[in-house]
Order: sequence, then structure tokens, then C-alpha cells
Amino acid sequence: MLRSIHAVPYFYAVITKETIDRIMETARVEEVVGDFVSLKKRGSNYIGLCPFHNEKTPSFNVSPSKGIYKCFGCGKAGNAVGFVMEHERFTYREALKFIAKRYNIEVEETQRSEEQVQQDTVRESLYIINGFAQNYFHEFLLQADEGRNIGGSYFRERGLNEATIQEFKLGFCPAGGSVFTDAAIAAGYQHELLKQLGLSNDQKRDFYRGRVIFPIHSISGKVLGFGGRTLSADKKVPKYVNSPESEIYNKSKVLYGMYQARQAVSSKDECFLVEGYMDVLSLYQAGITHVVASSGTALTTDQVRLIKRYTKNLTILYDGDPAGVKAALRGLDISLEEGLNVKVMLLPQGEDPDTWVQKLGAEGFLEKVSKEKKDLIHLRTSLFLEEAAGDPVKTAGVIKEIAFSISLIPDSIVRSLYIKSASTTLGLEEQILLQEVNRLIRKKAMDKLGKEDRASAESVPDQTPTQPERKPHITFHFDEPQEKDIVRLLLENSNYELEGENAIVAILRNLEDVEIDNNLYKQVVDEYRKFYEQQEFLSQSHFINHEDETIRKLCLNLLQSPYELSDNWEKMHEVYIKDKSYLVQKDIVKSISILKLKKVLRMKEEIENQLRQLQQDEAASQDMQHAMEDIRQLQDFIRQLSEVTGTVVMPYTRNK
Ligand code: CTP
Ligand code: MN
Repeated sequence: MLRSIHAVPYFYAVITKETIDRIMETARVEEVVGDFVSLKKRGSNYIGLCPFHNEKTPSFNVSPSKGIYKCFGCGKAGNAVGFVMEHERFTYREALKFIAKRYNIEVEETQRSEEQVQQDTVRESLYIINGFAQNYFHEFLLQADEGRNIGGSYFRERGLNEATIQEFKLGFCPAGGSVFTDAAIAAGYQHELLKQLGLSNDQKRDFYRGRVIFPIHSISGKVLGFGGRTLSADKKVPKYVNSPESEIYNKSKVLYGMYQARQAVSSKDECFLVEGYMDVLSLYQAGITHVVASSGTALTTDQVRLIKRYTKNLTILYDGDPAGVKAALRGLDISLEEGLNVKVMLLPQGEDPDTWVQKLGAEGFLEKVSKEKKDLIHLRTSLFLEEAAGDPVKTAGVIKEIAFSISLIPDSIVRSLYIKSASTTLGLEEQILLQEVNRLIRKKAMDKLGKEDRASAESVPDQTPTQPERKPHITFHFDEPQEKDIVRLLLENSNYELEGENAIVAILRNLEDVEIDNNLYKQVVDEYRKFYEQQEFLSQSHFINHEDETIRKLCLNLLQSPYELSDNWEKMHEVYIKDKSYLVQKDIVKSISILKLKKVLRMKEEIENQLRQLQQDEAASQDMQHAMEDIRQLQDFIRQLSEVTGTVVMPYTRNK
């Protein structure tokens, strides 16, 4: 995912410092919070019921003089911007814009090229046209005879009521041929843009004619695109047609229903994932509102990350047919890899969540799900072990697949819990599973570092239908000073440009294969990653004003004792420095290389330890060979990294 960062332009729409200052000066925390929470005056402060956790007596405090809110129940605290970020799950930028709008502050943005301004105008128009189309289809469904008779009766037949139709802005596109396109052009919209959005074709015919319409919203409610369902039972007619990818619609990053579900997902701290539009609508209408759909496509990492903004608990509800199982397993692995706590519920054959909730009612539905949803171990075990029972080769396959899934989990503690639970379930020695998992992790790391596809692939599960694009982690211990240095680099260099690339982007790209071990530093780096993936700019002041006190202090600390670029650089490299960006670049290269070097050294140590263990086991000669190959390769990295960092590393001695 971070890879795509490299491709995006290196200038971001940056809200100017002046604007941020104005917003900070103008915003009254009690007013901003007061828009969402009813507050009562208590002395010089205000109190209310905390919106972030359930409570009956108010422990949520707002202090106008300090400009902050704090909940003494759950500990959440921050300023006005932080509140909007937390409550609305907005990014920093979104929150600033939101508050600016509330106070009628004009938002100034800098560092935009002519071309980008142009592009923004086009994007803006596309949003406006989609908004127009949504309203048109919606009104047509509610007002026009044709809409009511055809679209309206269809939705009624499917059990949807007026409120749901309103909430999701469902619609109907006239069957006439070009009724909508004509209306849009008459309203002043360019046919060219209607075409880009897939609303109209070259002949000015309506793309969705005669279909019921499901608008697809961004998390802030903008209309990104549409799905249109045919009412015809003719098998030759595609059941759904969807908006093409466009300047504003990237379907791999969107989840249907997230706009409507986000508050519930966040307050229930769980998200249901289903396959279809109708599944979302039926569950939502039944009161199960924490539900989104992947819209028939395979779940992507971006979609999982979107969910992760609101909750870490995901329940995948897919059909129990072979295609559904396959999709569910893939979704499971992707979610595990992103560190989610994920469960899968396979529905009885022939049912989807829509039909099932209509049968069972919400309560019955929820009860079944909570009883029958399975974690990765129980899902894989129940799916395969039955048929594999007594067949050692098949059983070994199942074990390897479970090990593979476990190896994707980034958190080592969670991983070890799964290993425990799986070995119990499978009646297996924990050590065996642990070894297999470690081997897979190591292999991934090596593949990533070495790029070389070694013959040891034979020991990886043969069928890996569920294997997502692998993103290995090097997770080895603690390299505190170096990791802290990375945070410093990020904080200091947001304004630098290196060879046409924003320094932060360069840093993140170079850290792509590095896992930060220290939790605090990892939080900061992850926040940068998250924002930059969304092409958001993070300024120093975001961290100086960070709602998390530990982060705030860390960042203040790092910035107050500015790290001086060594005077020696100039002499050492015998260069005449016109441009500080040269030094910045050196600083980045050196810091990251040292970090990587440390990690690779640790990794080598780890493998050497394993090797020592293996030497006691005669049957393990092949594993030993692999371990030795790994060590040789690491040796090579160490040499390369040492050259960059100027560090002398003792050569590897085979036997001690
Ligand atoms: N889908 C699609 N194009 C198709 C078929 C399906 O985009 N030709 C997507 C839609 O988002 C759809 C989802 O895949 O909602 C699930 O497909 P399916 O189960 O066939 O449809 P349902 O949502 O169950 O729709 P319905 O109940 O109306 O048949
Ligand atoms: Mn269905």
C-alpha cells in the first residue's frame, strides 16, 4: 500500500499555517464539542455525558480556559480539533476543514501547482454531478409515477421501508433512454463529465436506465458512484452494473454503507462485513446498523484499513458456498495481517444475510452469529480437518495453512496466543507449530530482503488459495535509539523535498519493510503512514497538539532539542553544501540504514540460535541448510549496510 505513495505527486494540499492558526484561535472547544454533546455549565467548566463510552453520570469535562476536553471515565482528552477527529473519525485535515466551515474561516491551501488546481476543479465538478444524479434518481423514485410504480414497488417487495430508502438515498433511473442525461445537460452539466462518471454513454443514453440505484458514499457522505440493479429476471442482463473507476471513485478503497454505519461501528466496536448492497440494507433496517459491504469484490487491504479506523473487531458474514468460503478465507488473512481481531460466519447454503435476517429477525440473527462465528483456527479446522481426518498428508496441509495464517499476524503476543490455542485444538505440540510459524515469518522476511525466490518454496503450503499479497515484517526486538531517530526524521523534515519527492514520503517508502518495535514510536510512524496513504499532510503541529499526551511529550522533546546535522558531514564528504536538502538526505539514509542494520544483525543472531538448536536434531538437516543460506544472505546485507553507515561489523564465524 505504501508503494502507491511513491506514485502520488509529492505536493499535497497543505492548509497554510496562517489558516491553521486562525482556526486554532477561533475555535472554542466548548462550542465545537457542544455541537455533539449537550453540556452543562459547572463553575468555569462544562460537563456532559461522554460520547466515547457508555455512562449514566457525566464524567466528561470541557475546559474553555485550557481549550481542552477530558473524560475522567475513559481518559479520552484533547483540543477542539482532536475532538472532531475522534468523534467523527476525521483525519486532521478533515477536522480542520470541518471547524473552519463552522466558523466561516476561509481555508487557504498552498503548494499547489496549476495542474492540481485544475484537477481539483474537475474533481469538485464530478462530486457535484454525482450529487445531482443521486438527488435526481432519488426524487424520481419518490415522486414520479414511473419511479413509484416500478422502483418503489420493487423495493417494497424486497421489504425495504421509506426510512431506509431515505437514509441510503436509493433511487430509480427512468427507463426512457436518455431522460436523466437530458435533464443533467439541461441543468448545465457537461456531457464529457457525465461520461467520465459512467452515467451516460457516447450516444447520450443513460447508463442505468430502468434500474434501481444504490448510491455509494464516501465516509463524509460524498457520492462517489452508483450501483444499479436490473429489475429484469433475464439471465443475460447483468444483475448489477456499477460506476467505473474515476477520478473520484476507487472501488478498492470504498466500502458500501460505511457512511451510514460508521458511528455504530465505532460505538459497538465491531463491524459486520457482508457481500451485497441488499445485505447491508436489510441488516441496517433490522437495526443491525454496524454493517458494510465489499460489494461482491475481494476484500482489499485498503478496505480493511478503512474499517480499522473505527474498530479492530471484524466479523465477515459470507455465503457458505465454495466461492464464499474462498472469499472469506482471503478476507480473513488480509484482516489478520492488518492486526484485526477477525471472525468468520459462514451462512447456511442458499442464504445471504438479507434473506437470513428476514427469516430470523435481528435478535435471532445476532444470536446465531455470536454463537457460530469462528476464528481462523476453528474455521480452518472445521472446514478441512473433518475430511482430512486420518489422512496424514492432508492433516499436515491443514496445519501448514493454519501456520501460514498465524504467521501473518503482526503482533507477536497475539500470535503466540493463537499458536497456543491452535496446538490445543489440533492436538499438536506447541513447539512444532511455533517452529513452522517462525520459519514462515523468517522466509517472508528473507524473500523481502533478498527478493530471491529460493527453492525452499517446497515447504510452503501447496495450495495457498487464500494467500494475500505478502507483506513481510521484520519483527525483531528493540532498537530504541534508532527507532526514536526515525520519529525525529519524520517530524523534522516535512518541508523537505528530495529529488522531487517529499522527504516524509521518501522516509516512509524506505521503511516499508521495517517493523517498528517500540510501541510509542510505532504509533507515530503508523500515524504518518495512515495519513500519507490518504494523501494527507501531517504537520509538526499535529503532533505538538496531539491528544495523546505521551506522543505530545515525545514530539515536543524531539523538536526542542534539535538534532544538529554533524558539522563533519561537510568535511567527511568533501562537498560544498549549497543546499540543506543534501544533508537531510544523508541524514535519512544514514538513520534508516543504521536501523536496518541493527535489525538485520538481530535477525542473524536469532537464526544462529535456531541453527544451534537444529544441530542437535539429526532430522533437521534441510532446515539447517536453509538457516545457513539465510545467514549467508544476511551477511551480505550487513556488508552493504555497513558500507553506507560506516559501521564495522565482525564477520560471521560459523562455529564457535
Ligand atoms: N455484484 C456486482 N455485479 C454483479 C453481481 C454482483 O457488482 N453482476 C456485486 C453487488 O455489489 C452485489 C454483490 O456483488 O450486491 C453480491 O452479489 P449477489 O449476492 O449476486 O447479489 P445480492 O446483493 O444478493 O443482490 P440481490 O439480493 O438483489 O440478488
Ligand atoms: Mn441477495
